[in-house]
Amino acid sequence: MECFRILGPTRLHGEVTASGAKNAALPALAASLLAEGPLELSGLPAVRDIRTMRQLLGHLGVDSEEDGPSLRLRAGNQARSDDAPYELVKTMRASILVLGPLLARLGHARVSLPGGCAIGVRPIDQHLAGLEALGAEVELEHGYVSARARRLTGGSFRFHVPTVTGTENLLMAACLAKGTTVLDNCAREPEIRELATLLGKMGARIQGAGTERIEIEGVESLNAATHRVIPDRIEIGTYLIGAAMTGGEIFIRGAASADLAPLLEKLAESGCDLSISDSGLGLSRPTELKPRDILTAPHPGFPTDLQAQYMALMTQASGQATICETVFENRFQHVPELARMGADIHIHGTFAHVHGPTALSGARVMATDLRASACLVLAAIAAAGETIVGRIYHLDRGYERMELKLQQLGARVERLAAEPTRATTTP
Ligand code: UD1
Repeated sequence: MECFRILGPTRLHGEVTASGAKNAALPALAASLLAEGPLELSGLPAVRDIRTMRQLLGHLGVDSEEDGPSLRLRAGNQARSDDAPYELVKTMRASILVLGPLLARLGHARVSLPGGCAIGVRPIDQHLAGLEALGAEVELEHGYVSARARRLTGGSFRFHVPTVTGTENLLMAACLAKGTTVLDNCAREPEIRELATLLGKMGARIQGAGTERIEIEGVESLNAATHRVIPDRIEIGTYLIGAAMTGGEIFIRGAASADLAPLLEKLAESGCDLSISDSGLGLSRPTELKPRDILTAPHPGFPTDLQAQYMALMTQASGQATICETVFENRFQHVPELARMGADIHIHGTFAHVHGPTALSGARVMATDLRASACLVLAAIAAAGETIVGRIYHLDRGYERMELKLQQLGARVERLAAEPTRATTTP
């Protein structure tokens, strides 16, 4: 199994370019199922989740073809299948995003339940209740969701919890429903606004995306469109945290600040200098790092997808920081791994108290999920000596060329084909 070997400590410095947002690209790809003409997407990150979604769409009858920096996807009028099988869905929970579009376009869909995952139970009850509110008959059998509706009809639905992919699924389904749909307590993540922009280009009539209430007036068909995926705010946040953590100085070309406000505020308060321009975002940390508490929450709150990386940062702050995770129930799995590197962190329910600053030391650690892996990589760059981060296949799901970008920033990171039997000490 591939791993990273990282030799630290290193101060990150230099420039990298932001990749396209995985979480914006996945629903954009799923939207291709809705279009009668081709969808041309650019800025897709070269990460495993995107390859998995392309594979799933291929299975469902969407032809995709690379054209320079763009991907052209064509669903045509006849999908080859309405069935998203377990083998494909199990590796990526976001596969559930094909349910709404398939049902809206074909009148039926069968999608494997994504199952539990490392960071919590993550049910899809809200996706299903929402589709039922639009007239679908939904059944759960043999680990699959089967949904049917001759044609979905507009309706009202209030999410019990703001769910990102749930909002996206309903938004896509409602575009082809007969009549008007009103969705309340929607997730407000920028990726939802972006999906609505793409659907709008395809001919959908949507108002309010990015707010708690979205209104969708159904149309008969959706057409061809061209769209560029927004930069990945979580990737950008990860590298900014890396620079802050190591007292470095970096510039991320193509990074936008608007969607990162909760992180940027904390970084500024903790003593980092930020420079925001049209071409990107810069960060340097000239002085001691101050501890600052965070509480994760749906957008515009502090993103849960940056909680683990922020925790690594706080191990370097002078004093105690409290981190409260409110979105997922099991998202502190990086804590025991950070502790192996010397971090002083105590968990009380949904709270983690981080006592810093700690002189981290390299160790063998194991990645447990995508963002926890990023946290361990950052900690390893700040730590003295060699760290082996195992199971980096988690990282490859969502970070484009991470080791190359980190090398560009001066980090001593290399990918090994297999974990060494014994730690070595040379870079
Ligand atoms: C998306 C992101 C993921 C991010 C998460 C929260 C994508 C592809 N993934 O995941 O990176 O960590 O948002 O920002 O965009 N819930 C229910 N019932 C449902 C659906 C969700 O109870 O039907 C709960 C979940 O268990 C969780 C909370 O709602 O506690 C938020 O989850 P949700 O927004 O759905 O996460 P995802 O869309 O899976």
